[in-house]
Amino acid sequence: MLRRYARKTSCILKSPLPRPSLPVPANEKLLAWVGDEIVPRESAKVSVFDSVVQGGDSVWEGLRIYNGKIFKLEEHLDRLFDSAKALAFNNVPTRDEVKEAIFKTLIRNAMFDNAHIRLSLTRGKKVSSGMSPAFNLYGCTLIVLAEWKPPVYDNTRGITLVTATTRRNSPNNLDSKIHHNNLLNNILAKIEGNNAKADDAIMLDKDGYVAETNATNIFLVKKGRVMTPHADYCLPGITRATVSFRKFPL
Ligand SMILES: Cc1ncc(COP(=O)(O)O)c(C=O)c1O
Repeated sequence: MLRRYARKTSCILKSPLPRPSLPVPANEKLLAWVGDEIVPRESAKVSVFDSVVQGGDSVWEGLRIYNGKIFKLEEHLDRLFDSAKALAFNNVPTRDEVKEAIFKTLIRNAMFDNAHIRLSLTRGKKVSSGMSPAFNLYGCTLIVLAEWKPPVYDNTRGITLVTATTRRNSPNNLDSKIHHNNLLNNILAKIEGNNAKADDAIMLDKDGYVAETNATNIFLVKKGRVMTPHADYCLPGITRATVSFRKFPL
């Protein structure tokens, strides 16, 4: 039966959709680091055996480049390596190797301002599909995806948020301190935000206390004081650690 079907159909999965335009057309020509090489956007691919495809088994950081500098690079690398350790990754590249990949990617793209890097470190390619890290015999896969990207939020007009019904992961299930790529919890909240035509969604913890938004930590200024939730159900953000909790003038 399968053989007869294969004879009839040559190309069953041709995309019927027209080629979409990019939010920033200049990103058409970008070069990305994948594994141990820099390749053009269309060739920037991971294996179907990669852990990130098999189970979202990867850690990541979002880095911003302002004025020739990467904001808080060392802090982001600390968190990347802490997350990889918490997930027991093996054969992790060294800090110097990761930095070299980042710098080479930025230099080859001539990106020194207004850029964003999605830095991912997956558990790597597996010798066979499946969950077990025992199949990971190739070492981790490093991805440096640098794009021209304006700020996500309109800081002059402010943004609208909706409270999502999807609750933030409990540390009993998956610790938010690990910055992992298993983002379905946040994506479900983001879908709720999109459905409500809001910019993003506020996520609560299991008891109904505010945790963070689907994409950022959240802050409140009350009586001149900046407040933010404890980092039990939210990512202990680097921006959060940079915000000054001193009194604001009223
Ligand atoms: C869910 C979530 N919370 C908060 C943050 C903000 O983290 P940071 O300030 O370290 O960039 C991020 C960024 O990736 C995030 O994904």
